[in-house]
Amino acid sequence: MTMTGRKLNRRAFIKASAAATAATAVPTGWAIAQAKPLKVGLMLPYSGTFAQLGENITFAVEMLLAEKGGKLAGREVQFVKLDDESKPELGPQNAERLVKRDGVDVIIGTVHSGVQMGIHKVVKESGTLTIMPNAGNVALTRELCAKNVFRTSFSNWQPAYAMGVALGKRGVKKASWITWDYAAGTESGEGFKQGLEANGGQFVSLLTLKFPETNFQPLLAQIPGLGVDAIGSFFAGGGAVQFVKDYAAAGIKVPLVGSGFLTEGTLAAQGAAADGIETALHYGDGIDNAKNKAFRAAFKAKANREADVYAVQGYDAAQLLAVGLEAAKGNIEDEKALYAAMEQAKIDSPRGSITMSPQHNVIQDIYLRKVTNGENKVVSTIVSQLADPGTGCKM
Ligand code: PHB
Repeated sequence: MTMTGRKLNRRAFIKASAAATAATAVPTGWAIAQAKPLKVGLMLPYSGTFAQLGENITFAVEMLLAEKGGKLAGREVQFVKLDDESKPELGPQNAERLVKRDGVDVIIGTVHSGVQMGIHKVVKESGTLTIMPNAGNVALTRELCAKNVFRTSFSNWQPAYAMGVALGKRGVKKASWITWDYAAGTESGEGFKQGLEANGGQFVSLLTLKFPETNFQPLLAQIPGLGVDAIGSFFAGGGAVQFVKDYAAAGIKVPLVGSGFLTEGTLAAQGAAADGIETALHYGDGIDNAKNKAFRAAFKAKANREADVYAVQGYDAAQLLAVGLEAAKGNIEDEKALYAAMEQAKIDSPRGSITMSPQHNVIQDIYLRKVTNGENKVVSTIVSQLADPGTGCKM
């Protein structure tokens, strides 16, 4: 690892504090570090098709901090917010800005898998602790895994795999997948294929358009000719709103299913077009536990809208950070204590209990949901405590 970013700052800092200690005996470098606020970079989309996703993650992170009395492990927290616009080409430079210019101690980010790739390049080198509160890019907890990178959301494979399992088990023979042509879309399509084929179904085709385009008509026109019993899909945010409306308006008879993002945080805008759509996700409406009830009430009070999976993932990113920091007694440089505690964390999430896989991806239940009366009603658990395969990870 090269001595850039945080490592370099840390070295200079230790040198300076050693000199200070020699002269005055107090305070030590660690004590100085403790007194400084913890700088948390929130690199998220605050504009574009995923803007509401970024906002909900932010609200929920702030909520957890408020619940902790405004401090984590005794340290004040200072947020540095950066709108990544869900633009992969800006990912590396934006992440560098946070690490080098702003000197953040932690990055919580981001939503878009392509942007996450840019963050990953930067933080793998700098060693900056990074918690992914959404982006599901599978490689980041498989062959590109890193000891300083954790994910509290999902891998793109997880919910889509479960959706394929659910269809296969009920005897669906043939299905295709429609999505944006980027990591989240194609990796979820691969998960869906694996789940379906492992349960007796056949994956027919992958239909794509460019992210974040919403001209769905040419793809919708192909569906009747595919000869499939179901269409699976990954879209999210503003794109999902449009897709579900266009699908209903086209009068297509083939049932539409998907990774749960298709109907997550979007139901008010989708209206009747979403009625009856089944999806698979690690969250849903009607999860009956005390944590979820308290979380939803607090989120509604803060954000003036209902909580969704993005809020849950942001909240749990902050919960995971708190667990690590508390074990390290506020000293983010104590990587041994920090990472060990995060790896072993058992988090009481609004979605149910979650843990971390050895590759630092979340292990969680995946639910089948059905849109009923404007809610993603949980119908059943498709797979309990599903872990991503995590293949090729060497920490
Ligand atoms: C992703 O790019 O990984 C992504 C974006 C939005 C979602 C889910 C995954 O809702």
